[in-house]
Amino acid sequence: MDYYSKLAEDYEALNPKEEIFLQKDFFSRVVEKHKIKTCLDCACGLGWHLYMLDDLGVKCYGSDISPEMIEICKNNLSDKGIELKVEDYKKLADSWETKFDMILCVSSALNHMLEDEDIVVALDSMYERLEEKGIIVIFSGVSDALAASKPKLIPARIYPEQAIYHFIEYFDDRVVFNILNIKKTKDSFIHSLNSMTLSLLTKERFERCVAKTRFREVSIFGDFDFTDYLEDRSNRLFAIIRK
Ligand SMILES: C[S@@+](CC[C@H](N)C(=O)[O-])C[C@H]1O[C@@H](n2cnc3c(N)ncnc32)[C@H](O)[C@@H]1O
Repeated sequence: MDYYSKLAEDYEALNPKEEIFLQKDFFSRVVEKHKIKTCLDCACGLGWHLYMLDDLGVKCYGSDISPEMIEICKNNLSDKGIELKVEDYKKLADSWETKFDMILCVSSALNHMLEDEDIVVALDSMYERLEEKGIIVIFSGVSDALAASKPKLIPARIYPEQAIYHFIEYFDDRVVFNILNIKKTKDSFIHSLNSMTLSLLTKERFERCVAKTRFREVSIFGDFDFTDYLEDRSNRLFAIIRK
């Protein structure tokens, strides 16, 4: 899990806070419906979901396996007083004694588990840290529609001074993202290339893994407005799993 030691400083450009803050309506509906008072983001990255949920009045906690991501996250949340730890979400009980009403594992963070067994271990670890009637929220961008259309190139972000492209290779149950990052300098360009392997989390595979856990209810959506998940069209799989 060395990807983020190299990617951390460019991760903001890849998934900027302005886009994460557009998810506020989705999260306020979830918080209200499930009466959420506490939340752990167990792959919190740079911390912007925690920032937003704190603004919604939720008591927040964050952890991530990458010390580099947590370092930037600490800086981003310096005015929030949110407790942060470096921890693997497969072993949440090692660091967190408290239980939470909601655990987030979003922006394809669960897709780092490449084998079904590891997905199940990660979900079990989250289950252990949930209050009764607690929920897990998962978003995966590597799902059925991507597997069906198999684009080889996605221009992920284009800014005036920087462009990030994904060159994608497809295998049975996983996808390799080759991430080309081009930055303009005064009179030239700087290029860097990183590769990241993510599991292909189709609806069928995801439900099969959840069925091996003690969770009793899973709701799957196709967008932030809770519309149906369409295997041929939804760009992301959204799941709320209840204890
Ligand atoms: C695509 S980023 C998403 C970050 C953040 N949730 C967001 O929405 O911007 C995936 C994150 O998952 C973290 N991660 C990957 N495997 C992990 C694990 N086993 N335990 C905890 N965090 C993990 C990475 O370090 C990275 O910060």
